Amino acid sequence: MDGIQGKMKRSLQYRLSIWLSLAIIGIALAAGVFSFFSAFRDAHELQDDQLKQIAALVSRHHLQVTLADHPESVPDIDPESRVIVQALPPATGSAQAADGQALLLPANVRDGMHTVAVHDHEWRLFAKTLDDGSRIAVAQQTEVRDEVARDSALRTVMPFVILVPVLLILMGVLIRQMFKPLRHLASDLDERSEQNLEPLSATNLPLEIMPFVVAINRLLARVARSVDVQRRFVADAAHELRTPLTALSLQAERLDAAEMSPPAKERLVTLKRGIQRNRMLLDQLLALARVQQTAYGERNAVSIQQVIRQVLEDLLPLAESKQLDLGMISDVDARVAASEMDLKTLLKNLVDNAIRYTPENGRIDLSIKVDEASVVLQIDDTGPGIAVEERERVFDPFYRVLGNDEVGSGLGLSIVKTIADRIGASVALRAASSSPTPGLSVLLTLKRAM
Ligand SMILES: Nc1ncnc2c1ncn2[C@@H]1O[C@H](COP(=O)(O)OP(=O)(O)O)[C@@H](O)[C@H]1O
Ligand SMILES: [Mg+2]
Repeated sequence: MDGIQGKMKRSLQYRLSIWLSLAIIGIALAAGVFSFFSAFRDAHELQDDQLKQIAALVSRHHLQVTLADHPESVPDIDPESRVIVQALPPATGSAQAADGQALLLPANVRDGMHTVAVHDHEWRLFAKTLDDGSRIAVAQQTEVRDEVARDSALRTVMPFVILVPVLLILMGVLIRQMFKPLRHLASDLDERSEQNLEPLSATNLPLEIMPFVVAINRLLARVARSVDVQRRFVADAAHELRTPLTALSLQAERLDAAEMSPPAKERLVTLKRGIQRNRMLLDQLLALARVQQTAYGERNAVSIQQVIRQVLEDLLPLAESKQLDLGMISDVDARVAASEMDLKTLLKNLVDNAIRYTPENGRIDLSIKVDEASVVLQIDDTGPGIAVEERERVFDPFYRVLGNDEVGSGLGLSIVKTIADRIGASVALRAASSSPTPGLSVLLTLKRAM
């Protein structure tokens, strides 16, 4: 609960909404109360004026108003809203009003406006002394007057009652709309892969957010530079290590020619194998560093058949040494969007794995399926396959499945993944269903060149 409250307090959108809502409601309330009371007072003044005017009419036209007059009932008019005009006893007369009058008014009412209580009701009355010395009172029940005044005052408040919710909704929508670019920016950043250090687009962003975007872009540029420096360091280190390793391997070759005892020869074989393994590791490291370069290789269109042919040519000796049946089972061709170098490195690593991990006399089948947008290359082998729980991890650098006797660096599938990511391809590992042994089926889905 506290977490949500804390978040609310820190949310600009929430604070803006709350303060603006309070301001709108406060101003509307004040304006409403003011206009209600001023309309209420105006209505009362108008009604007082009407009473005065009636009195003036009676006076000017010398209308007869008798003491015992009863108001006539007018059809269709609420008896409560009637206006009563009645004669008042002279100011010097008896203190009690005469019987039979419509209103039992106190006798010594002074001229002018009064509010008096008669017959359990409040009355507003105007007393006036006429030219001939007689007196009249014009009166009306305050309840009716108040009701009329209240109704007219309420009507002046109505616009506020309608306006406030409309304004509140409008404000909510506007504020949400204004914060939309921020949400978009955040989801944009969230969806990025860690390799994508391209600057954020600043188009259509509010000016207030620009400094952040500019700062984030500067940070991204710094991170990209530092990642680049590190990659270059790995590449340089691998490169630098190659020369001494080549020298070592030459020395070992020379030693091979020399006379030596059988145990020494045996050790020399182990030494040469170690040197060979290190050369392979360095080559793979260099390949990984190359494909990780931030400068993307140009993406032209290459024929997939042509690249496969090159790869098979290179790897055929290895396959033959294990008597593997390695071949293409479809001759469909298509052009894919990738640089030849990238595609070759990628396919070489996949086919190399299939050859290495398939036992002698096994079978490796390559097939291609093409549809409108993509080219799918499937590589099935009859090797041990990869357990489901390992299928994600084998793409990690230096990760190798345990109990694996093959020489390797654990970098092959990392290289494959890196290239696939940058050319917009995807790699899926499955159990090969067609082969009699479990086997691995690699599905490489490439983008077709347009
Ligand atoms: N075709 C395959 N059949 C069985 N296991 C495989 C296959 N390809 C890859 N693997 C497993 O995945 C691991 C990682 O492969 P990779 O990254 O190419 O490294 P490396 O081949 O140098 O060991 C390998 O060690 C191997 O255990
Ligand atoms: Mg490999």
